[in-house]
Amino acid sequence: MEKSISIIGAGTIGSAVAIALNKKFQVIATRRNKEKIKDLESIGIKITSNNIEAVNSSDIILFSLKPIDTAEEIKRMSKELEGKIIISLAAALPIQVIKKFSPKSFVVRAMTNIAARVGGGFTVYSFQKDFPQDKKKIVLEILSSFGEIEEVEEKYMDALTAVSGSGPAYILTIIEAMMYAGLKVGLPRDLALKASYETVLGSAKLVSESGDHPSILKELVITPSGVTIDAIYELEDSGIRTAFMRAIESATNKSKLITESIIEKLK
Ligand SMILES: NC(=O)c1ccc[n+]([C@@H]2O[C@H](COP(=O)([O-])OP(=O)(O)OC[C@H]3O[C@@H](n4cnc5c(N)ncnc54)[C@H](OP(=O)(O)O)[C@@H]3O)[C@@H](O)[C@H]2O)c1
Repeated sequence: MEKSISIIGAGTIGSAVAIALNKKFQVIATRRNKEKIKDLESIGIKITSNNIEAVNSSDIILFSLKPIDTAEEIKRMSKELEGKIIISLAAALPIQVIKKFSPKSFVVRAMTNIAARVGGGFTVYSFQKDFPQDKKKIVLEILSSFGEIEEVEEKYMDALTAVSGSGPAYILTIIEAMMYAGLKVGLPRDLALKASYETVLGSAKLVSESGDHPSILKELVITPSGVTIDAIYELEDSGIRTAFMRAIESATNKSKLITESIIEKLK
């Protein structure tokens, strides 16, 4: 029989991972307003508003609620969660807080991104201390359904939330900006959009498959007195790199602040 996974809080990210998991696993998804996830039901996912029923139906429970709601639901269902694997996708919610509320479950903290919807996510994860070896395989199988995965030390989670968890929003802004630039120089809309996203996709593939540093690959495009250097001059003049550093530092700090406020609220 297929392994069953219950997803608590099938909103934006929960629905994305439900669709990815549905290909390999039996999936149960919850949401208070279950009318909003009728589309999941139509592809064979069982939907319910009863979290306890969902927890009782699987040994693996994936939480995709807002951080504070994740902590509160885990606290409320602590008894039902005993002996189960909890995969928390909540930003800024430390393993130690989850363990405090559910000491007898096995906890994995993961940070994925919205590209999981098309199997192109990047998911980083940390296991609680002493996570049973024999339970790791199924966790990796689950997280791999979202795309690429990498185990990391939990201390990097705030920074990774800012780089790859929120990252699609930055890259989509770049795609949109490139598309508008294409319109400005006279391209038809569809062509401007396709030229922009295919370029992002291809550049990422180039870095990933060559293993070369982006600065080396960039040199292959920037020829002396050529076209690209004029564009690079404008981008550098706009402070694009420092803008990214400030943005990601600010998002990292926000993640840390959310952790502090969760701990304060749950005292
Ligand atoms: N969005 C992203 O790109 C992204 C990326 C990485 C990580 N995350 C993390 O994923 C988590 C969810 O984010 P999101 O953007 O998917 O938020 P979201 O769209 O608001 O999803 C949360 C869902 O939880 C449901 N919910 C609230 N309380 C519930 C309860 N007691 N029982 C069952 N369902 C409940 C809500 O629907 P109802 O009101 O109908 O119940 C809502 O649809 C957050 O912790 C975030 O940090 C998000």
